[in-house]
Amino acid sequence: MVQRTLIVFKPDAVQRGIVGELLARFERRGFRIAAARALRVDKTMAERHYAVHQGKFFFDDLVQLITASPVLAVVLEGPHAIAAVRAMVGATRPHEAAPGTIRGDYALVGLRNLIHASDAPETAVSEIALWFPEGIIEYTRDVERWMTDEGPP
Ligand SMILES: Nc1ncnc2c1ncn2[C@@H]1O[C@H](COP(=O)(O)OP(=O)(O)O)[C@@H](O)[C@H]1O
Ligand SMILES: [Mg+2]
Repeated sequence: MVQRTLIVFKPDAVQRGIVGELLARFERRGFRIAAARALRVDKTMAERHYAVHQGKFFFDDLVQLITASPVLAVVLEGPHAIAAVRAMVGATRPHEAAPGTIRGDYALVGLRNLIHASDAPETAVSEIALWFPEGIIEYTRDVERWMTDEGPP
């Protein structure tokens, strides 16, 4: 079941200069980079992206953090991408994230959890549309046939 999911390297990841290192983990796992875009998120965009959290006590901090510095938004594609990417990202609270996950290996406190990842098929679709309104270019990788158990290579 090939899926697309959105990840966003938040300002803390960009400022710490570890975006390449973190993105490499997803490439190594086998995910295809379907789209990428560096941008400065404005307040309107932040409020849309985090609409589900509107009214929560941490909402203002969340908007402030994601607008504080540029981010890198990436669409990853691959089998079971949504759940598999979430598992690689780790638990929301970095101090609770398992070692081996991105948050568990690179982050420790509160809001500074480095990366956003879509949490369900519906949110992946709406988030990709929000972050990539111009659409996504289509291409294939020849290596794909070596990374599947569906049929002969
Ligand atoms: N209780 C909380 N206190 C402070 N910040 C929070 C809290 N819950 C969530 N956040 C922040 O809001 C973001 C969005 O929350 P959520 O969607 O629940 O987590 P996730 O990023 O793991 O999907 C989190 O990544 C984190 O930065
Ligand atoms: Mg979330």
